[in-house]
Amino acid sequence: MAKLYDRAMGALEHSCLGRWRSDLLCQAWGDVLEVGSGTGANLIHYPDGLTSLVLTEPDPHMLGRLRINLKAHQGGKFQPLGCGAEALSFSDGSFDCVVATLVLCSVSSPSEALRELHRVLRPGGRLLFIEHVAAQGCPRTLRMQRLLQPLWKRLCCNCHLARDTQEAMVQAGFEFETLERVQFRGVPAFVSPVIKGVAQKGD
Ligand SMILES: C[S@@+](CC[C@H](N)C(=O)[O-])C[C@H]1O[C@@H](n2cnc3c(N)ncnc32)[C@H](O)[C@@H]1O
Repeated sequence: MAKLYDRAMGALEHSCLGRWRSDLLCQAWGDVLEVGSGTGANLIHYPDGLTSLVLTEPDPHMLGRLRINLKAHQGGKFQPLGCGAEALSFSDGSFDCVVATLVLCSVSSPSEALRELHRVLRPGGRLLFIEHVAAQGCPRTLRMQRLLQPLWKRLCCNCHLARDTQEAMVQAGFEFETLERVQFRGVPAFVSPVIKGVAQKGD
């Protein structure tokens, strides 16, 4: 997966994902935590002048590639950490922004991960997200997602096709500032529904 990831995502980055990342991440500021950074596809989209940027990635192969990309893009200024989003070693209220792109589909427990993201944000802090999710308003696609789920999960490193990530964010205490439902272009319908936007840490 780590070896193939950047090549496999190339067409998608080009058709829409790269632009979505840019539009989202130009809103990052202050102390930023990104979880499940993978190979570091977001790195080129962060604005200059962040106070700090902490990248986390539990998979050792992805982490190796992330280290190389970090060095190339940030000159070794920031170091990645090898940990999952469900158990973060940061104190409460450590960050202004948390970034999760195409991660909550793969974590073992979205509710635990989102609780952690909520905990480490400062009051008023923001979660910036792009996540592929369960099809809404299209029962045929949803049925297909559920049917393919067991195989897809095994082939794609625990990636879940039919998670209701929007509802999981609400349950974790986030309030949406912006929320868009969009579709990846050029991929099968069962993997194309996406939510993207900004959610604030509620009280
Ligand atoms: C589809 S990749 C997305 C990588 C990157 N965020 C991006 O936007 O290209 C999913 C990533 O989630 C990571 N992941 C899996 N389980 C995780 C967990 N429990 N906590 C954090 N990241 C996790 C995987 O190792 C993988 O790097």
